[in-house]
Amino acid sequence: MIAPRRLHRAAGAVLAVFVTVHIANHLVALAGVDAHVRFMERARLVYRQPVVEVVLLLCAALQAASGLSMLWTGRHRRRTVLGWLQAGSGAYIALFLAIHVGAVLAARIVGGLDTNFYFAAAGLHVWPFALFFAPYYFLAVAALFAHVGCALRRGRAVVARMSGAGVVVAVLIVATLMGKVVPVAIPARYLATFAFAGP
Ligand code: HEM
Repeated sequence: MIAPRRLHRAAGAVLAVFVTVHIANHLVALAGVDAHVRFMERARLVYRQPVVEVVLLLCAALQAASGLSMLWTGRHRRRTVLGWLQAGSGAYIALFLAIHVGAVLAARIVGGLDTNFYFAAAGLHVWPFALFFAPYYFLAVAALFAHVGCALRRGRAVVARMSGAGVVVAVLIVATLMGKVVPVAIPARYLATFAFAGP
């Protein structure tokens, strides 16, 4: 059997390629929603290929499972701040991945929605859902950068720089999704997902 740590590193390397493109895709929205959608359409030509997507989703599941396994088995040995930061950020990413990928697939397969910028942003434009989605997305990006910073094993200064960069990137992405950077008008079909909360 492959050790959870090796599995975590291998799945993480595959996932890192997608996540780099994915975060870049969200930063492209700083230049407008159209730029974001054009970037996503090109990236999807690769990651929406059935074989690529199956490998990607499998890696996401393996990443979360192996990470949670190490979180549990290492619970008595974890004594440093960096150790706890790595474990805590990893636990949040595993929870986020389960909700996020589940929501994306359900919206696509059951809801028939194009899971583009508007899908990600809709919840931030409906009260009180913004109270959930703002910290949910912010923490995902911040945790990702902190987690990768810890995994690099280059000491506290690198972790601090990576975590700081994560906070900046997270603020930019969430502010853009909220329509605070460029104009954002969410189409009615995306807002309808939250219609059950209305009068
Ligand atoms: C603010 C942060 C994020 C937002 C707004 C966001 C939004 C999205 C959207 C809209 C999709 C659908 C893409 C498509 O239909 O082509 C998606 C898919 C996905 N995201 Fe994220 N995401 C964020 C962060 C993350 C992070 C941090 C991870 C990983 C740690 C992640 C992993 C994934 C995965 C695995 C998919 C499924 C790809 C597929 O098979 O289509 N996302 N995300």
